[in-house]
Amino acid sequence: MEKLTGRARLIFILNITAVSLWLLGLAMATDTASQSKPSGAQAKDSSQYVGSDTCRTCHEDVYKKQFESTTHFKTTLKDGHGCESCHGPGAAHVEGGGDVSKIISFKRLSRQDATERCLSCHGEAHEQRRFAQSSHDSNDVGCLDCHSPHHARESQHLLVQKQPQLCYGCHTSAQADFGKPYHHRVEEGLIRCSDCHNVHGTATLRQVRALPSGDFVCYKCHADKQGPFVYEHVPVKTEGCSSCHIPHGSTNPRLLRVSQINLLCLQCHTFPTQGPVGPMHNQSQKYQACTMCHVAIHGSNFSSVFFK
Ligand code: HEC
Ligand code: HEC
Ligand code: HEC
Ligand code: HEC
Ligand code: HEC
Ligand code: HEC
Ligand code: HEC
Ligand code: HEC
Ligand code: HEC
Ligand code: HEC
Repeated sequence: MEKLTGRARLIFILNITAVSLWLLGLAMATDTASQSKPSGAQAKDSSQYVGSDTCRTCHEDVYKKQFESTTHFKTTLKDGHGCESCHGPGAAHVEGGGDVSKIISFKRLSRQDATERCLSCHGEAHEQRRFAQSSHDSNDVGCLDCHSPHHARESQHLLVQKQPQLCYGCHTSAQADFGKPYHHRVEEGLIRCSDCHNVHGTATLRQVRALPSGDFVCYKCHADKQGPFVYEHVPVKTEGCSSCHIPHGSTNPRLLRVSQINLLCLQCHTFPTQGPVGPMHNQSQKYQACTMCHVAIHGSNFSSVFFK
């Protein structure tokens, strides 16, 4: 728009006046039509769409720099509405010489409404289909808190910022966890938050991803812990990895919940009253790291007490 001089702009606007009058007629016709059909926006006559090339005449910058090179250019293909698939039909806006009250502006939409527009195309996609169940949605975090179709700073996935900084902006305690001495290397760029979480919502707690098999996401990278084992250590399968590990980071080696392995084991295995009665469990030795002998703590094919 800025590129047009005052004069060129005037000529341009005069040029489209003829078109405008014609469009005005249509607009009025469809207005009456839509009054009888309360379904509103969806029922708008397709002639209300002017096409992205028309938008381009005034918004060359947006078109060239913030649309053509983004993946949303695909919305122009196969008779798609391009710009207008997000901003709604633009005839009235064009006809008003760029009347901002006649076009859907995301600045003026509520988060919920903006998100809904995005979901009109993305709502069925595997990754996004549970957005309505996500704690992001229920806490009024919308698509545009993380994405920007025109002003993305990360071209991949149109993100407003890259991970993990994007997430740290709101999740300061996660940032603190990943700063602990033992942590998954998210800060170092080896793993991303989205390897473990689907921020768009999951059927699981804490938006933690599950593998297609339904198993813990942890097995994606720690396949050796998956088994199945002849002798399973029950909590690994029932309560999950987080019953012993803190997935983000910990002050304890191996991301353990407690500083001493024995104390961890003894949270579930009372000792000595009900607990292990093995020959090595006498009072003088009970403080030796349990995993010195019970090595295969995640499950074993050879030993029912996980010796190997
Ligand atoms: C006749 C020139 C013209 C055409 C054609 C045109 N616009 Fe605009 N548009 C403007 C002007 C002028 C403004 C207001 C000044 C600005 O923000 O650049 C504007 C503003 C906008 C805004 C911002 C509204 C706001 O309040 O933030 C959007 C979104 C927009 N146009 C979308 C479109 C779309 C989509 C099309 C194609 C359907 C289109 N425009 C076609 C001139 C035009
Ligand atoms: C995928 C949906 C989508 C498409 C397609 C799209 N826009 Fe936008 N547009 C937005 C959103 C969302 C914003 C708010 C700013 C942002 O998040 O990038 C916006 C903002 C704007 C603005 C306000 C100024 C600005 O840069 O923020 C203008 C003007 C605009 N769009 C014009 C267009 C034009 C012209 C096209 C086609 C060439 C287009 N848009 C295609 C979603 C879209
Ligand atoms: C008219 C349908 C449509 C609407 C509305 C729409 N998108 Fe898209 N979006 C697409 C298409 C098509 C792609 C490209 C998908 C592909 O290549 O598989 C896409 C891709 C994306 C991507 C992936 C980019 C990448 O590089 O991986 C993001 C993020 C995205 N859209 C966000 C949004 C947001 C946010 C909104 C709402 C402001 C929105 N979309 C609205 C159709 C749409
Ligand atoms: C809390 C931040 C956040 C919110 C809210 C969010 N996204 Fe995303 N989105 C991301 C991140 C991060 C990625 C990259 C995922 C990855 O690395 O696998 C992504 C990826 C995508 C992709 C491309 C890759 C894919 O999985 O298909 C699309 C499309 C997308 N988001 C659409 C949306 C839509 C539509 C909404 C709103 C309904 C939305 N996002 C809300 C952060 C967010
Ligand atoms: C705009 C702020 C914002 C951004 C950016 C954001 N989140 Fe969130 N997130 C929230 C809010 C608010 C909640 C709900 C309250 C809570 O649990 O903290 C939430 C919840 C979550 C939850 C579920 C927590 C639970 O207890 O169920 C996860 C997981 C999550 N976010 C991960 C991410 C990841 C990963 C990113 C970056 C890709 C991200 N978030 C970016 C605000 C944000
Ligand atoms: C190695 C996998 C993994 C990575 C990487 C990861 N998370 Fe998590 N996150 C989890 C698991 C598992 C839980 C659930 C923990 C529980 O139930 O005790 C969780 C819980 C959360 C919660 C809920 C509150 C809490 O602290 O328990 C938030 C918010 C969250 N993660 C955000 C993030 C953010 C932001 C990032 C990236 C900076 C991230 N996560 C990276 C696995 C991961
Ligand atoms: C995307 C791959 C990936 C996922 C998913 C993942 N991890 Fe890891 N994990 C790693 C890598 C790589 C390391 C080791 C290297 C490092 O970062 O120093 C590691 C290290 C660990 C360690 C510490 C090992 C040591 O020797 O100190 C534990 C414990 C662990 N992961 C548990 C988990 C749990 C629990 C989950 C699920 C919540 C999980 N991991 C999910 C990649 C992953
Ligand atoms: C019953 C408690 C418990 C559960 C449940 C558990 N772990 Fe562990 N894990 C440990 C202990 C204890 C160690 C430390 C062993 C040692 O240092 O001798 C460990 C060590 C690890 C290590 C580093 C050493 C190695 O063997 O590679 C990884 C990686 C790991 N666990 C991943 C996982 C994953 C993934 C899950 C879930 C599938 C899981 N753990 C469930 C107790 C547990
Ligand atoms: C979250 C609870 C929990 C934690 C923590 C835990 N266990 Fe277990 N463990 C169980 C359960 C439940 C069984 C199933 C057998 C039973 O009923 O006692 C079991 C079984 C065992 C068995 C086999 C016993 C048998 O009778 O077959 C051994 C050995 C064992 N655990 C050792 C350990 C060690 C060593 C640790 C610490 C690294 C540990 N466990 C941590 C819950 C736990
Ligand atoms: C010096 C080696 C050693 C250490 C250290 C050790 N154990 Fe054992 N544990 C054994 C032996 C040997 C058995 C008996 C194996 C058998 O019955 O075949 C056993 C059996 C068990 C059993 C199964 C008991 C049953 O009733 O079948 C549990 C549970 C167990 N130990 C837990 C622990 C816990 C918890 C610790 C740490 C506090 C620990 N062990 C430390 C050697 C050890």
